[in-house]
This record gives sequence, structure tokens and C-alpha cells, in this order.
Amino acid sequence: PRPDDHVIVLFGATGDLARRKLLPGLFHLTRAGLMPEHFRVVGSAPAADALSDEEFRAHARAAVDEFGRSEPRGEAWEAFEAALSFGSADPDDPQPLLAAVEAAEQELGGGPRRLFHLAVPPVAFASVVRLLGDTQLAEHARVIVEKPFGTDLPSAQELNATIHAVFDESKIFRIDHFLGKESVDNILALRFANGLFEPVWNRQHISHVQIDVPEQIGIEGRSRFFEGTGTFRDMIVTHLFQLMGFVAMEPPAALEAHALRDEKERVFQSLRPLDPAQVVRGQYTGYRDEPGVDPHSDTETFAALRVELDNWRWAGVPFFLRSGKSLAQGRHVVTLGFREPVLRMFPVDAHHAVGLRSNQLVIDFADPGGVTSRFLTKEPGPLMRLEEAEMVFRYAGCYNERHALEGYERLILDAMLGDQSLFTRSDGIENLWAAATPLLEQPPPVEPYAPGSWGPDRIGQLIAPYRWSLPDRH
Ligand code: BG6
Repeated sequence: PRPDDHVIVLFGATGDLARRKLLPGLFHLTRAGLMPEHFRVVGSAPAADALSDEEFRAHARAAVDEFGRSEPRGEAWEAFEAALSFGSADPDDPQPLLAAVEAAEQELGGGPRRLFHLAVPPVAFASVVRLLGDTQLAEHARVIVEKPFGTDLPSAQELNATIHAVFDESKIFRIDHFLGKESVDNILALRFANGLFEPVWNRQHISHVQIDVPEQIGIEGRSRFFEGTGTFRDMIVTHLFQLMGFVAMEPPAALEAHALRDEKERVFQSLRPLDPAQVVRGQYTGYRDEPGVDPHSDTETFAALRVELDNWRWAGVPFFLRSGKSLAQGRHVVTLGFREPVLRMFPVDAHHAVGLRSNQLVIDFADPGGVTSRFLTKEPGPLMRLEEAEMVFRYAGCYNERHALEGYERLILDAMLGDQSLFTRSDGIENLWAAATPLLEQPPPVEPYAPGSWGPDRIGQLIAPYRWSLPDRH
């Protein structure tokens, strides 16, 4: 289905996220024929950063050229560009924005829907939300809010209260772009469309789970954001926990927003409060010399943790989460480690070449990702010797990837359609912050690691007796 006609207002239109993801994403949706038949995009920012309509169009063009799909902009560009305008907004002077929204709505006629995308730093959320309430722009509108949602439990509760004073929860789309990645939907397909996997997806058969998102990039000049945020808030409490929600959830009663979100939030309810002794916080050497970073900074650029879910399906099964900057590879991998067979029938020396990386299901949710099953086979010959083998499925080459959407594209489309399935909910976010409280109150000291490594030395100890499934053999 195609969304109704829309006026989309992009707060933070001159910022990094708009440039890298949102403007190229909106253009790609247009080219893919997925935008509403009629729409306008109104960019907004504080008056100090105001642009003219023409400047905003040039800004969008440059963003699409630099960060959009590799093919040329082509014919679709002109119509897209014509749909762009700009209106600045400050709490004491929202007038330019009001005028721009009114002009856009008049051009469209017929009462288009309003969608606000708050691509602004967390400190600015509350004032933008109040502005939307005070000016009545919020009426009948939907709002997309960026992560991280708060910095701890009290701030998340306060932010929820601020937003709920203006928007009903059914209109709030808290975005986590990892949930828009194809492979997250694929976890649902794998688990619930096949009789092969779901029956073994539990503590009887699975010994541990790894959710591993190392990044090769550093902080990319985002020191101001990163210094105050760190990897735990930037990646773990957001992207990695959300992924864990989909990996660990019970089968929902139906594939629709309420049922899916109920099951995901139940996972977070059962998350045991984090134990700081089971957390490794790391900082790559050289981070303190980056421009804009405090020379004594205690901000972590890496976090690895062992967490547990106190529920019937997962009791006693540790989940290991890892993410960090400046690591050896950039990957997005979920690994299910299966239990050993109940009886060791094979002679000890049969296992001669066998590491500890068999007996695993590995879901790679890069764009495009794949699924690998790792198991043991017998090496040909007279001796009973076991060898590691893999069955690999890769999206690349299997499907027409032109239909693939990036995380942000998929989620903006869902927000226009009013589908909240892949967005986070206030109770879930608060449960996550509540579980994180012991760690936030008593963070262990940061441990150094070399750029290009897999993190501080202690990560091996953290996951023992298992091993990280990365690096793999590819
Ligand atoms: C963002 C974080 O939300 O996700 C960044 O703020 C991180 O620090 C990025 O690099 C990773 O996203 P992706 O889709 O490139 O893995």
C-alpha cells in the first residue's frame, strides 16, 4: 500500500543524520515509487542555521550525491527537489516553520498527514516537542524520535512524560534503525515460517547467544556526541538490546504491531539487572587524543557484556553482546551456540582439527546478509576424523536487491503507513534503562585496546568457556 499524502517536517535538516541517511533515504523512497502520491518535505533547524529553500535543495542534492545509492539521480530528482522547502524554528520564533508547513499543506490540498522527524540531539528533544504542542502543529500528527531515548531511567521517564503531554503513544515512532534492517524481519521469518528452527530455539538446545556488532570506523568527528554518550548508550542499550528482543521473543499471536511489541517488551521485562562485573568497558588507544575529546576521558568506545533473561525459555542461557569503534572488522552478527550432543561417541582425537566454532547458527545481518549453519562432518578416509563444515545462504545473488530498503527507509515508510511494529515503546525503553541502572551507577573502569583489534584482552574471559564466533574464516 502507498501512504496517504504527507507533509514531512525534518528537524535537524542541516545535521549529520539528515545528510547521511534521511535525505538520501527519502529520495530513494521517491525513486522506488514508495512515497505518497503527493508529499512535501519541510526542512527545519534553529534560525542560526536557517537555509533558504534553494540552499536546502542544494544541500539535499549534495547529500544524495555523496551518500545516496550509486546510480545517478536521474529524472526523479526534479520532482523530489520541487517538494523541498525550509522553515526555521526557535522556541521563541516558530513563525518561519509555521509558514512553510502551511504553504506545503495548501499546495497539497485535501488535508495531508503530518509527520515530524526529530533528527536532533537528545538535549533538544523536549524543546522541539513543546514547540509542536504550543503551536498546535502536533494535532493529528505523527512523530519520529531518534535514539538514544534518554540517558538513564529518570531522563527517559521525563522524556516520555514530555512527549505524552503532546502526542498519544500511538502517534510516537521511536526509531532504532537496526530494526529496519532486512535481516531483523528475517529473524522472524527464520523462526516462525520454518518448522526447522523454532523447536530448538530455547534453553534445551542452545547453550549461549552472541550479538556482535563490531565497527571498523572510529568516532568520525562526532566527538561532541560521543563523549557524552559512549558505546553502551549509543549501541548496546539501543540497537543490540532491540535485536536481542527479536532473537529471544516468544512467538507472537500475530504478525502485527501490538502482538509483536508485546512479546518484545516481555523480553525486556525479564532482563536481569546488569552486573558491572560482567561488563568490559574499553577505550581504544588514541581516543583521548582525538579533537574534542577530554584528555582524561572515561567514555567507553567499546562494550562487551554478559546478560541473562529470567524467563522460561532462556533461564541459564547467557547472552553475550559486543560492540565498539575502531575494531578489526565492521560486522553485524547474531550467533546461536548449540549444546554439545548428550554423549561424546567420537574418540577424543577425532576432534583434532575442530575449534569451538561448529554447532552454531550464524545470522549475518549486514546489508545484504545471510545465514550460516556450522556443523561437524567426517573427513573422507579410513579414519574417523571430524572437520568443521558450513552451509551458507547469502542474500546477495538470491534476490533482486534493488527492492531492498535501508533501515531508515523502511522505517520512515512504516511511520507514514502508521505501522509501529518495528518501533520501540515507552515501557520497553524504561525497562531497559531500569536493567542498566546498576551498570550506569557503578561502571567498571575503561580498559585500553589497540585500534584494529577485537577489544580489550578480558573479552575472552568474559565469554569463557565459549568463544566469540568472530573473527570467522571469511
Ligand atoms: C548509529 C550510531 O545509531 O548506528 C553510530 O550512533 C553507529 O555510532 C551506527 O556507527 C551503526 O549503524 P550501521 O547501520 O552502520 O551499522
